[in-house]
Amino acid sequence: MARKKIIAGNWKMNMTPSQAVELVNTLKPLVVNDEVDVVFCVPAIDLVPVMEATKGTNIQVGAENMYFENKGAYTGEIAPAMLTDIGVKYVIIGHSERREYFAETDETVNKKVLKAFEYGLTPIICCGETLTQREQGITLDWIRQQIKIAFQNVTAEQAASAVIAYEPIWAIGTGKVATTEQAQEVCGAIRACIAEVYDEATAAAIRIQYGGSVSAASAPELFAQPDIDGGLVGGASLKPDFGKIVNYNK
Ligand code: G3P
Repeated sequence: MARKKIIAGNWKMNMTPSQAVELVNTLKPLVVNDEVDVVFCVPAIDLVPVMEATKGTNIQVGAENMYFENKGAYTGEIAPAMLTDIGVKYVIIGHSERREYFAETDETVNKKVLKAFEYGLTPIICCGETLTQREQGITLDWIRQQIKIAFQNVTAEQAASAVIAYEPIWAIGTGKVATTEQAQEVCGAIRACIAEVYDEATAAAIRIQYGGSVSAASAPELFAQPDIDGGLVGGASLKPDFGKIVNYNK
């Protein structure tokens, strides 16, 4: 089945609200591609101005995190309803930087995935191995474990609408993009894992991104792979070159 590509920028902790509006205005004429779902995932403080600046464009907006409760004494956290109330459609969950610096675990990822679906948000669920794990040859086992825990109690219908982002940790921010073969192998294994947990139809529907030093040069070959349905792009999404990544097929 044909899956529509989805290419998301992950701005991470970059862009003040005024810089965010400026960047949206620079990028919006460059990121038009009817064959691609384009998503800007931005810091919480930028969500309202970016929602405003992207009105009437093809750009959808995502958050970079959310909490797994919807209200209460969780100082500093963002509830799912706060995101949907302003029209946010996507939310990145379980990025390796949140696992590394902010104690995110496979278990909290699962709680957040379930809560995202409860509130009608599409989760972009991150997984990925360290260089040590790759060198030890345990990449696929590690990723399969991350996926199985992340999807616990998620229905097949919900899973089919989800996005998974495979981001080898050793490729994030390093300029060392995974080879096409490495990225396809893991994304194919992720799809096979979804087929095992659910069924072939769900596996065929779910969209799987690659992330980790994606550039205008590497995007065309990566996104042409049978099990790679687009990318989750960090550094390059903050520059006009992101337009070339979104238009990788032109
Ligand atoms: O979430 C995307 C990010 O982790 C990849 O970052 O800068 O290597 O494209 P970058």
